[in-house]
Amino acid sequence: MSFKSFAEFYHNETKYTPEGLKKNARALDWSKQPIPFKNYINAEKITLGELLKKQDNDLSDDEKSLKKLSKLLYYTNGITAMIPYTPPLYLRAAPSAGGLYPTEIYVITNNYKGLVNGIYNFNPKTHSLNLFAKGNFFDKLKKACFSHPSLEKSNIVLIYTGVIFRSEWRYQERAYRRILLDTGHVMGNTIIYSPFIGYYSNLIEPFNDDYVNDLLFLNKNEEVTLSIIALTEEKLNNKNNFLYPSQIKKDFSSKLDNLIIEFHNSTKIDDLQKTNILESKIEKDNNKTKFSFAFGEKIEPKIIEWNNSLENVISKRRSTRAYNASSIDKDDLSKILTFTYKPELYKEQGFDYLPDNYDLSIIDTYIAILNVKDIEDGCYYYLYERDELKQIRFKNFREEIYYLCLGQNLGRDASAVIFHTTNLPLSINKYGERAYRYLHLQAGILGQRINLACTRLDIGVSGIGGFFDNDVNELLGIPEEVAVLYITTIGKPETRLI
Ligand SMILES: Cc1cc2nc3c(=O)[nH]c(=O)nc-3n(C[C@H](O)[C@H](O)[C@H](O)COP(=O)(O)O)c2cc1C
Repeated sequence: MSFKSFAEFYHNETKYTPEGLKKNARALDWSKQPIPFKNYINAEKITLGELLKKQDNDLSDDEKSLKKLSKLLYYTNGITAMIPYTPPLYLRAAPSAGGLYPTEIYVITNNYKGLVNGIYNFNPKTHSLNLFAKGNFFDKLKKACFSHPSLEKSNIVLIYTGVIFRSEWRYQERAYRRILLDTGHVMGNTIIYSPFIGYYSNLIEPFNDDYVNDLLFLNKNEEVTLSIIALTEEKLNNKNNFLYPSQIKKDFSSKLDNLIIEFHNSTKIDDLQKTNILESKIEKDNNKTKFSFAFGEKIEPKIIEWNNSLENVISKRRSTRAYNASSIDKDDLSKILTFTYKPELYKEQGFDYLPDNYDLSIIDTYIAILNVKDIEDGCYYYLYERDELKQIRFKNFREEIYYLCLGQNLGRDASAVIFHTTNLPLSINKYGERAYRYLHLQAGILGQRINLACTRLDIGVSGIGGFFDNDVNELLGIPEEVAVLYITTIGKPETRLI
């Protein structure tokens, strides 16, 4: 097969098929299980944990400011539970495929109250910051981010990286997909939670990957920058105006020593002038209109009352390990979808009502209804702009979904299964190889919104990163070039194992 881009090649190469899984089956080498924390021996350590327990009245202005950051990091990727294995497994505020936690967070400050200027790594295990580079790096950061306007209004920036080996150890070449999804979940927490400490999250794109990697002293064959968020007190109106394409790499070889790193490198941006994307090549995906005439199930927006429960919800969120196949209410499904796709309805409750997104227009949402009261079983295309589920297939697909989720019971016993997909060639026409990052990070962000909405409603939820790709296309009746990004199952939990 020939591919027009590296992303299409990578995606195809990392599809799960029954034959491929059998061929690549191997026992995990537990002696090499990666440690999901970084160790900075010579860094100055700023502990943040004590602040979480203190009342604001007892704190100085510097401490109050530091407490805000402490909360943000805790509710973004802090340790929220522990399973007493040997060694213990620390679970976090955001889910992670296989509990491998490849995402690291770095903080760069510019006169942020309570912290000296510098670059810090966040260590969730000790809930502390490790200051490993002192000084003001904002000018360098601005240069690396092509003078992104949000940086002018920001005094603190979070950089999200992926440590490849942590996830690759288990998932081999497909790990890159999960690293991006995991990181999207982590970012989702930042975006959702930041207004509650008085900050808005601004996605920073484009950035020069190599400059940022160098700023963080990353070993580029092990750890790579994936995304950047600048926090601002003021709500800025960025939308996705700044998303920029990388090149499309046509001359990749199919014999690669390190597929993940080589593919990741092709998604980098180094110079805004050099791009072989032509505006005229950008075609419109006709999916959104394709189903116009299909039977439409109206999904009126329904609001979740959060009543200041967000912190509690993030702390207690867990991926459901088993569902009991019983039904959920249509209103609850609507609440989950409304929180995920219609943040503009959450202004009064203090959420970011216009959160930055990568580009939602290149992601499609399909939902398989397995047991939702008042909605017929079948597969639907979700037209959120029109509050409609367009029915595309009629039948209960439990067994098919069980199979395509690699025989995971979660897929069979859920009440509904949400699929995020993209027309990959069109997305690449728009954003070059970097589309692959934007798409998976965005699917993770949406996944986290679904996770938190479900948790608030006491509905079970779990992401599924392992699926037979082509079987999903078959289930949904979508063409081969459509790439399945992510699956999220929701339903009634059987038992709470953790
Ligand atoms: C991208 C992604 C893919 C996942 N895939 C699966 C999966 O295929 N099967 C599963 O049972 N859980 C899956 N999970 C859930 C993780 O196993 C879970 O997040 C992890 O064990 C940590 O537990 P917690 O979410 O309860 O904190 C996935 C989570 C993410 C974020």
